[in-house]
Amino acid sequence: MSETDLPVPSVPNARDAVRALRPSQIREVANAGFGVADVLPFWFGESDRVTPTFIRDAASAALAAGATFYTHNLGIAPLRAALADYVSALHGTTSSDHIAVTSAGVNALMLAAQLVVGAGDRVVAVTPLWPNLVEIPKILGAHVETVALGYGEHGWQLDLEQLLAALTPDTKMLLVNSPNNPTGWVMSREEQRAVLAHCRRHGIWIVADEVYERLYYAHAEADAGSTHSRTAPSFLDLATRDERVICVNSFSKAWLMTGWRLGWIVAPASLMDDLGKLVEYNTSCAPAFVQQAGIAAVQQGERFTQDLVLDLKASRDHLVRALSAVPGVDVKAPPGAMYVFFSMPGAARSLELCKAMVREVGLGVAPGSAFGPQGEGFVRWCYACDTARLDAGVGRLRRFLAQHGTH
Ligand SMILES: Cc1ncc(COP(=O)(O)O)c(C=O)c1O
Repeated sequence: MSETDLPVPSVPNARDAVRALRPSQIREVANAGFGVADVLPFWFGESDRVTPTFIRDAASAALAAGATFYTHNLGIAPLRAALADYVSALHGTTSSDHIAVTSAGVNALMLAAQLVVGAGDRVVAVTPLWPNLVEIPKILGAHVETVALGYGEHGWQLDLEQLLAALTPDTKMLLVNSPNNPTGWVMSREEQRAVLAHCRRHGIWIVADEVYERLYYAHAEADAGSTHSRTAPSFLDLATRDERVICVNSFSKAWLMTGWRLGWIVAPASLMDDLGKLVEYNTSCAPAFVQQAGIAAVQQGERFTQDLVLDLKASRDHLVRALSAVPGVDVKAPPGAMYVFFSMPGAARSLELCKAMVREVGLGVAPGSAFGPQGEGFVRWCYACDTARLDAGVGRLRRFLAQHGTH
């Protein structure tokens, strides 16, 4: 008998932990829209504007100068230094020894999880939440428990006591994303203080996803024109740089660089050698010319980011006003990020609703259930586009409701 005559083993499959990951429901809605000629997409978390010219020019110049080689695992020294200055200006003294450059925020989240959690570890996450944060620890075999934000008269709120009770001494890591995708909820300074004290007491790691820290509207107008407009409250404002706090950030949102895949981590210096190994075995480094563009973004991009925040705030207010006028819609202006997360007739089955809206009227929004069971009953709309497009989208939503007799 030759080797090829041996029986073929059963169907090859991925590990159980990988097979159990939830597929993206946003993708499922997008697939339902295939073949629909004219879809208005508000389902993904990115602006419809291209990256600013000064950043693209920096990348072109770096490429022309031959920046095509591998770099240090933790990033090129000038970018780490530029990021250290940027973080210091916003959140207090931070040296390059505490900065690692990553291949965007999602890679930073994976690296942070790989640093501190393993199979069987208990992780707590505040939800509703962008699914990647909840799924990443599961790839490593960790168990993820969720603490749900509540929705009421004042929008989305955290039950602090409930979160502290969930942070039992055997918990390895807390995942908090503030400003939050999808709700726009922002954790208050007092809540951060209480959570940090509790996690210190029990030795729990805090992984803070602060990729939307600049997209914070409470102070945007008051601070326009200052060197740095304020950010949302950050764990970096309270924590020392050498405790169990890992802060994840990205170039995607504040400088419109989603496709570039560039981000960073602020973490204890004692982690950096091990983090360097993980970067080596995941991606080895972020692309050299992209890192050069990152220097331009943090050093020359402050005015751009402040203007962007004002534009986004105007778009948010425009969309909230337009949606509020639609009967049956309950919407509140969230303090951060770039989404409104609202309820409307039919949203109790949000996946079916969103598929029907894209099929029937070409309106592309994300179902609340994509952000965990706690998001069911809501729909997420990314408002990072011009107001004419927002109006066209609201017109389609009205048409859909009229066709279904709910309006
Ligand atoms: C909460 C949150 N964290 C992290 C990311 C990662 O973004 P990127 O990988 O583009 O940096 C996103 C992207 O939408 C997000 O919503």
